[in-house]
Amino acid sequence: MTSPSATVAARRWLVQVCCHRSCDRGGSAAVLAAFREHQSSTILIAESDCMGQCSAGPTVKVMPGNTWYCRVTADDVPRIVSQHLQGGEPVRDRLHPRFHPFDPSL
Ligand code: FES
Repeated sequence: MTSPSATVAARRWLVQVCCHRSCDRGGSAAVLAAFREHQSSTILIAESDCMGQCSAGPTVKVMPGNTWYCRVTADDVPRIVSQHLQGGEPVRDRLHPRFHPFDPSL
């Protein structure tokens, strides 16, 4: 039987970091560089064009799961990597409310 943590560890992630104008002005180059430090055979980092969420950038999207993060800083990256990509639990305080409305039961 496979444990949940083994399932998460076996996943392959795609992390898209918007580096278009608004997100760039908000510091997305540093966010991209911070994610690239964690690139591996299971974590692919990709620079993206505008994802249509410019007012809440820098925008980061994680697949699978279609998880959207907003206002991401380089300081948030280690937490997103360890908690979400390695632990399977999205970082709630950085979730984009347009795609992930607040649920007080969580
Ligand atoms: S510039 Fe990043 S979402 Fe539009």
